[in-house]
Amino acid sequence: MRELLQSAAARASTYLENLDSRSVAPSPQALARLAELDEVLPDQPCDAESVLALLDETGSPATVATAGSRFFGFVVGGSLPATLAANWLAGAWDQNAGIIALSPTAAKLEAVAMSWLLAVLGLPAGAGVGFVTCATTANFTALAAARHALLQQAGWDVEAQGLFGAPPITVIVGDEVHVSVLKALMLLGLGRDRVVRVPVDGQGRMRADALPKMAGPTIVCIQAGNVNTGAFDPASEICAAAHEAGAWVHVDGAFGLWAAVSPRYDYLTDGVADADSWATDAHKWLNVPYDSGLVICRHANISGRRCRSVPLIWCRPPTASRTIIRRSFRGGRVESRYGRLYGRLAGQVWPT
Ligand SMILES: Cc1ncc(COP(=O)(O)O)c(C=O)c1O
Repeated sequence: MRELLQSAAARASTYLENLDSRSVAPSPQALARLAELDEVLPDQPCDAESVLALLDETGSPATVATAGSRFFGFVVGGSLPATLAANWLAGAWDQNAGIIALSPTAAKLEAVAMSWLLAVLGLPAGAGVGFVTCATTANFTALAAARHALLQQAGWDVEAQGLFGAPPITVIVGDEVHVSVLKALMLLGLGRDRVVRVPVDGQGRMRADALPKMAGPTIVCIQAGNVNTGAFDPASEICAAAHEAGAWVHVDGAFGLWAAVSPRYDYLTDGVADADSWATDAHKWLNVPYDSGLVICRHANISGRRCRSVPLIWCRPPTASRTIIRRSFRGGRVESRYGRLYGRLAGQVWPT
C-alpha cells in the first residue's frame, strides 16, 4: 500500500511541477490519447499501479492546467500546496463526517473552521455554517432555509406539507442573477421563471431604487460579485428595505464574499453582513481543492428538527448540536444508546 500511495504522490508532484512549462490547454495529441481509456469493462482485476500509470499517462496530459498559475478562465481557483496536502490526508482518513460519533476529528475541524470563517468574513458569530460541495448547493441550502423560515412564520410546515396550497413566496432577483440561484429555486419548487427581476446598472448591479414594494413572504437574492463584471449589489440599501418588509435576504457570494477579508476591498461587501444567509465557495478564491462550498445562515436554529429532510448539515455550537441529536434519537433503546455515545464523544470534542 505504501508503495502505491508514494507512487501516486510522486506522480501528482511531477504533474504540479510541470504545470508552468506545459500548455494550459491539452494538446490535440493528448486529447486523442484519451481514446485509450475506451476499453471493455474488464472481467478480471488488474494491478493497482498499472491503473495509476494509465490515469497519469493518458489522463494528466489531457487535463486543463487550471491548478497552475497561467489559467485565467472563469472563476476557477487552483489549490494551494497546503490545502492539497491536507486534502490527501483527509482522503486517507476517509471519514463519514455526517455526525460526531463517526468522526470527532471532522466535527472538531468543522467547528474550528466555522468560527474562523465567520470571523474572517465579518459575519455574525452565532450563525450556522454548512460545508457543502459548491456555491450551487450552498445557494440551494440557504434558499431551503429561507423557504422554511418564511413559511413557518406564515404557519405552514413546508417539510411536512410540501408546497401545494402553501402561502406563495415572492422571490426577487437582480436581472443578472447567477444561473445557479435560478437552478436552486427551480429545485425548491419556487420556480425559475416566476421570480421578480429587478433592473441592473451598467455593471450588472441590482438597482436598489428599482426594488418592488415587498409584502408577504419574500426572499431577495443579491450578489456579492457578478461573475461577468465582479460588481457587488448595494447590500446595505437592499437589506434595509427588505428587512423593513420582513423579507429574507440571501447573498450569492460564490467568489466575491472573500473581498470581506481584505481591508483593501472590504468596502465592496459593505452591508453584506446584514443579510440572513450567504453562499460562497472555498474552491474559488480560498484555493481549496474541488469540491468545497460553504453555506452560512444567520438563524442557526433553522437547521433543527423541522429541516432535517433537507441537506442542512450545519456546524453548530456544541450544546445545541448535542440537544438536536439527543432529541432526534429519543424514544427507542438503540436510539437513546446512540445519544449517549454521541454525548460522550461530543464531550470529548468540546469538553465543557
Ligand atoms: C456568482 C456565482 N454564483 C454561483 C456560482 C456557482 O458556483 P459553483 O460552480 O461552485 O456551484 C458561480 C460560479 O462561477 C458564481 O460566479
